[in-house]
Amino acid sequence: MKTVVSGIRSTGNLHLGNYFGAIKNFINMQDAYNCFFFIADYHSLTTHPTPEHLNQQVKQVLAEYLACGIDPEKSTIFIQSDIPEIPELYLLMNMNAYLGELERTTSFKDKARKNPENVNAGLLTYPVLMAADIIIHKANFVPVGKDQEQNLEMARKFARRFNRMYKVDTFPTPQPFTFDGADMVKIPGLDGSGKMGKSEGNAICLYDDPKLIRKKVMKAVTDAGPTEMNQQKPEVIQNLFSLMSVVSTPDTVQHFDDLYNKCEIRYGDMKKQLAEDIVNFTSPIRDRIIDIMEDDAYLGKVAKLGAEKARESAAKTVQEVRSIIGFRKFY
Ligand code: TYM
Repeated sequence: MKTVVSGIRSTGNLHLGNYFGAIKNFINMQDAYNCFFFIADYHSLTTHPTPEHLNQQVKQVLAEYLACGIDPEKSTIFIQSDIPEIPELYLLMNMNAYLGELERTTSFKDKARKNPENVNAGLLTYPVLMAADIIIHKANFVPVGKDQEQNLEMARKFARRFNRMYKVDTFPTPQPFTFDGADMVKIPGLDGSGKMGKSEGNAICLYDDPKLIRKKVMKAVTDAGPTEMNQQKPEVIQNLFSLMSVVSTPDTVQHFDDLYNKCEIRYGDMKKQLAEDIVNFTSPIRDRIIDIMEDDAYLGKVAKLGAEKARESAAKTVQEVRSIIGFRKFY
């Protein structure tokens, strides 16, 4: 059975980008793959959360994963910081990761530019920790959105480099997971700024209440409307359609597409429909999040079971890696 590893940083509530980029495809496939879903709480430390906030966010993301339909009996769902073998492998992998290649990654450059006062070493080596997360379970597939393409490429590089350096076949080269050769998913934000993201401040979250969702959608950036029949849509309008295509029925999308092509579209109507379709999609998930968040005993049980299963798999790999590198006990 092939292995899948999927991670989400604990820096905010799950949003539609996380769901459609990394979770959705796997909900019905938990029997077909050896799935690991985890909460990347070490990764969240690059932005220095307070202790209370860190703990609260991890709990929230755990509840949200479960509310989306991850089944802890079928899949391994765990918290990154429960697995000490991950930082151990991270340390070992850091020795074969080079400053130049780390400095060149787009996400590092972006973050350094946006927050010049916080260019910490964790940010620089972020892709190494992510590679450790992936290869520690010898993942074959990683379901990620387009935004993580470069980080995944680094993980592939580090896995191959280790194999080559020690002339072994330890790590499979992890592939991005897409269905039928489809492109990696990129869910847009509705503020005209590109992708939906936690740090972009433009996210529609699974936990948002209907009023907030309607407010966010109605504020979406649009233009003055089409002026020619069948004209190409500018990016901000395409974004509305892209979001609609994941939450609404094909008929609904077609309906607004036809109106656009005839220059008869009223963006207000389209936004109202989009907001309702998002609310219908997220409401049942939100109800489950609220229920699960109240059940500390259940969350504790899930985290413990996941930690045990993930540690077993991680410890095996780290033992193998240590032995390949040449660590031998003298006692
Ligand atoms: P994070 O927490 O930003 O996002 C989690 C997952 O959601 C996907 N995603 C999106 N997909 C499509 N459209 C969007 N707008 C969008 N926004 C987010 C991301 O691609 C990701 O799959 N570095 C990772 C967390 C991580 C990880 C890993 C992931 C750490 N270790 C190992 C996979 C494997 C991150 O910050 O994702």
